[in-house]
Amino acid sequence: MKTLCRCCLLLTLPLLALIACYLLYILFCQHFCAQLCWLSCQYPEEQDGHFSTVPGSPIFQGYSRVPDGKPLGRALCHQCAVVSSSGQMLGSHMGKEIDQRECVLRMNQAPTQGYEEDVGTRSTIRVVSHTSIPLLLRNQSYFFKESRNTVYIVWGPMKLMNREVVGMTYRTLLKVKEMYPGLKLYTLTERMMARCDEIFQNETGKNRMKSGSFLSTGWFTMILAMELCEQIFVYGMVSDSYCREKDRPPVPYHYFEKGILDECRMYLAHERAPRGGHRFITEKAVFSRWAKRRHIIFNHPSWAEEGS
Ligand SMILES: *[C@@H]1O[C@H](CO)[C@@H](O)[C@H](O)[C@H]1NC(C)=O
Ligand SMILES: *[C@@H]1O[C@H](CO)[C@@H](O)[C@H](O)[C@H]1NC(C)=O
Repeated sequence: MKTLCRCCLLLTLPLLALIACYLLYILFCQHFCAQLCWLSCQYPEEQDGHFSTVPGSPIFQGYSRVPDGKPLGRALCHQCAVVSSSGQMLGSHMGKEIDQRECVLRMNQAPTQGYEEDVGTRSTIRVVSHTSIPLLLRNQSYFFKESRNTVYIVWGPMKLMNREVVGMTYRTLLKVKEMYPGLKLYTLTERMMARCDEIFQNETGKNRMKSGSFLSTGWFTMILAMELCEQIFVYGMVSDSYCREKDRPPVPYHYFEKGILDECRMYLAHERAPRGGHRFITEKAVFSRWAKRRHIIFNHPSWAEEGS
């Protein structure tokens, strides 16, 4: 009898320990994803919904919240407006149409105030380059206090965005989040940054780094829109052939920086730069291929009219 029980104990104790471990693992996995649970986190896309904030919403694993690292969870948008920062927006009168789209995506520090007639007023998501963070900070009350419903998604190189060995930009984001606790602030994960590079390589046949290219905020925004939106309406983006055609009236590179830089001059200079250039024109050629497979419509200028 005695030996039997000792035997039971010997069997049940490890079993109990195992169950306890398993429960702890499930409980803490989300919080210490990188350090503890790399196995289950390696392919988190396959675990449907269990990180979700809104029940039943899709989870976007490529975007993680500051500071807790929770992935972005939100409903898909039926229709998105992607509003370019280009000078093409000036005089477009697209504001009303843009505001009618379920979700409005903007980039960097592009303001709406003072340009409502052309660019609209709503901002669902703002995709922001690490280089634009200081510009947003210069106008904090406008961006972080008033635009409380906007989700900010920041991209940047790992060196600056690292959360473990806190990178410079990430440190700034932590401070911003402390100052504005209600702010919805996310960063692209390291994996997502790598994926955006890989998409560039797959689409252009060129290695992003070896070809001396920087991806533009527009690239990250279009990739996000492809995940988030059923239909994408792009405003103010020119096609890849636009700047190679003659007699294009000059427009500012950014609608909110009138008369400083001409858009096409800027695009062509970047396209030719051997190092450190944004390949705006190459990227647009890729977008036009995506538009053949997905519902993507380009307005003002309309790409359909150009037959490109
Ligand atoms: C902040 O942005 C608003 C809206 O564009 C603009 O009117 C204001 O001049 C900006 N302030 C600064 C300090 O840049
Ligand atoms: C890039 O292309 C490779 C080979 O076709 C494919 O396996 C991979 O999934 C693609 N990557 C992305 C991010 O689309």
